[in-house]
Amino acid sequence: MEIIVKQVRLLKNGPANETIFILGPTGRGKTTLVANLLSERSRFVIFDAKNDYYPEFFGGDVAEVSTVEAFAEALQNGQDRIIFRVASVDEAADELLDSALGYLNAFQFANIEANPDFPGIAVSLDELNRFAETHSCPQQLREEIERGRDYKITKIFGAQWFNSIPTWMRSSFSEIYTFQYSESIGLKRLEDYGLPADEVKALPPYVCLHTGKNGVEKIRLVPSPGETKRQHANKTGEEITA
Ligand SMILES: Nc1ncnc2c1ncn2[C@@H]1O[C@H](COP(=O)(O)OP(=O)(O)OP(=O)(O)O)[C@@H](O)[C@H]1O
Ligand SMILES: [Mg+2]
Repeated sequence: MEIIVKQVRLLKNGPANETIFILGPTGRGKTTLVANLLSERSRFVIFDAKNDYYPEFFGGDVAEVSTVEAFAEALQNGQDRIIFRVASVDEAADELLDSALGYLNAFQFANIEANPDFPGIAVSLDELNRFAETHSCPQQLREEIERGRDYKITKIFGAQWFNSIPTWMRSSFSEIYTFQYSESIGLKRLEDYGLPADEVKALPPYVCLHTGKNGVEKIRLVPSPGETKRQHANKTGEEITA
């Protein structure tokens, strides 16, 4: 068929809404992948509900906060990389996340309005299932997912379950990494993204299927030389000899 070329004016400038979703059961390497994706970014906020992340992984110069006030102060001081510790079992965690995201959205929006070149930021939430379910999602999280591009906010989510991710949220994902997954409703939904259930079910640890701009690819994640040792030594505070 002949292709007709038609010029269009652009409604919006800039990149597409970016939401990266990482799926898999415990221990398969989700958090490790999130940390590695973030380490390539110059500005990020990690909402850490399990005390998984530590500044040394990112080469230091990372602010650690646990209140919205301290978070706001860190952003205002130009701190580009922040770990926000939230207690996942705490009922107040939802409210804390909502206020923090609300502040971040407003902060980005005000700065971008004043200076269109104001840099973007990545927000990571490793326990998406803890905060968002089929019929519930903190309001500011929804705002950020639906309008993240306006705030130049990239989102990186980790979750163990795909069946309970709301449909509107699923349809916003621009990239999915899935480790081994076996729950049947989620598997069926992954097929909508071109991720074959049989392959997803059979993935070995630290191997994932990725779908994004370039279609589906299989990725094996291997530790860089010397990395495992340094990481453990830092986390426990003692040297581990291999
Ligand atoms: N590519 C890899 N090669 C070797 N070990 C890895 C790899 N990725 C992660 N690990 C190790 O496996 C363990 C689990 O990794 P990680 O915490 O990233 O998993 P997770 O999927 O986030 O688990 P959870 O759901 O419990 O949070 C860690 O000890 C981590 O160092
Ligand atoms: Mg994890």
